[in-house]
Amino acid sequence: MMRYAHVVGWGRYLPDRVVTNDELSRVVDTSDEWIYQRTGIHERHIAAAHETTATMAFEAAARALAVADLHPSAIELIIVATSTPAYMFPSTACTVQDYLGASHAGAFDLSAACSGFVYALQMAAQSIAAGSVHNALVIGAETMSRVIDWQDRSTCVLFGDGAGAVVLKGSSIPGGVMATTLRSDGSGGDLLSLPALYHNPVPIAGAEFSHNGHHKNIVDMDGKQVYRFATNVIASSIHDVLKMAELTTDDIALIIPHQANVRIIETAAKKLKLPMEKFYLNLEHTGNTSAASIPLALCDAVRDGRLKPDDNVVLVGFGGGLTWGASVVKWDVTPPDVSFPDREWKRVRYVMARGRSHVRRLQRRVEAAVVRPSRNGDGSDGD
Ligand code: ACO
Repeated sequence: MMRYAHVVGWGRYLPDRVVTNDELSRVVDTSDEWIYQRTGIHERHIAAAHETTATMAFEAAARALAVADLHPSAIELIIVATSTPAYMFPSTACTVQDYLGASHAGAFDLSAACSGFVYALQMAAQSIAAGSVHNALVIGAETMSRVIDWQDRSTCVLFGDGAGAVVLKGSSIPGGVMATTLRSDGSGGDLLSLPALYHNPVPIAGAEFSHNGHHKNIVDMDGKQVYRFATNVIASSIHDVLKMAELTTDDIALIIPHQANVRIIETAAKKLKLPMEKFYLNLEHTGNTSAASIPLALCDAVRDGRLKPDDNVVLVGFGGGLTWGASVVKWDVTPPDVSFPDREWKRVRYVMARGRSHVRRLQRRVEAAVVRPSRNGDGSDGD
C-alpha cells in the first residue's frame, strides 16, 4: 500500500531577543540602509545565553505536536537538520527526544547546511513511504549567532537564530510530500564553510594529528559566488521537482525558499518568469536562519493564511556543501484551532518527561554504585 507523508502539524520558535540593523551598526561598521538594500533583512532573533539549538528545537516540536494533536510517545522518528549542534553526540535530536519524552522514537541529526530541512523532510517522508515508520518529527534548528565572526560585517549581518518543525503522518490518501529532488556539489565546499574544531594531540607514532588548521569554528563565505550559485539552483531545482511531480508553475500556489537574501530570490523569480507574490518571504524579521528558515517561513505562511487545503507548495533549499533541493508538498489540512489553555495544560507532560529523565539518570548512577563494588575493576565478575 502506497503511504503518503502528510504534514499534520507545524510549530516554530524564535528567541525573544531581537537585534535590529541599527543595533548591529553599533557593533560593526554598517548601516540599516546597507543591510536592508543588499539583503532585505531588518532584524533577526538571537538566542539567550541559556538557549541552545536543542531547547529551540524542542519548543518548535512541542508546538507542532500540539497542532497535530499527537502524544510525544507516539512519535517514531525525529530528525533535526542543523549545522550548529551543541554536541556532535549526543545529537540534538536525542536531546529533543529526551525533552519531549518521545519514548518510541529513533533520533538523529542531519547535516546539509541551509538545505537541511528539505533533506530531512525527504528522509522522513521516505521512511513513511517505505512503511518503516508511521510518523516523524522533522525539525530545522540553528544557533547561527554562535558560529559567526561578530567582527566580520560581511557575514554577521546576515544570520539569525530559531527553529521550525513539522509532524509528518502516513496515510493511503494521496497528498503531503509528493516529489523531492536532492543535489550536491562538493567541489564548491570552499564557498561556504564552517570548520569543526579538533584540538586533541594524538600521541601515536604516524598519527600525530593535533590540529585541523582551523583556529575558530566560524562561518566563512564567498558572498558573490554563493549568490550566483543560489540564483541558478533555485530555478533548476524548481524545474526539476515540478517535472518529477508532473506539474507546472501554474499548479503551484506558493514557493517557500530558503530565506537567505531577498535579492537572490528576486533574481531567481525573474529567471523562472514568476511574480514575487508566488514567493513567501519572512527574512526581513528573521535573517538567514539556515536549516530553520524553511519551516519557520512555512509556519508564518500558514499563520498569514497563505496556504489553503489542496494547495501545492514548493519548498526550496540551497546552501553549504554545496547542497540544494526542492520538495512539492500538497497542503491538505485546515489549521486546527489549538486553544492556548489547552496547549499550556499539555505542556505539563514535558515537565513530567524531564522528571522521568532525571529519575532514569539517577537510577543508572545508583545501579553503577551498587553493582561496581561487587565486581572487579574491569567489570567482570570476580571469583
Ligand atoms: N555593511 C556595510 N558595508 C559592507 C558590509 C556591511 N555589512 N558588508 C560588506 N560591506 C562592504 C564591503 O566591505 C565592500 O566594501 P569595499 O567596496 O570598500 O571593499 C562593499 O560593501 C561591497 O561588498 P561586497 O561583498 O561586494 O557586497 P555585495 O554586493 O556582494 O553584497 C552580500 C554582499 C550581501 C553578502 C552578497 O554577496 C550576497 O547576498 N551574497 C549571498 C550570500 C548569502 O546570502 N549568504 C547567506 C548564507 S548562504 C546561504 O544561506 C545559502
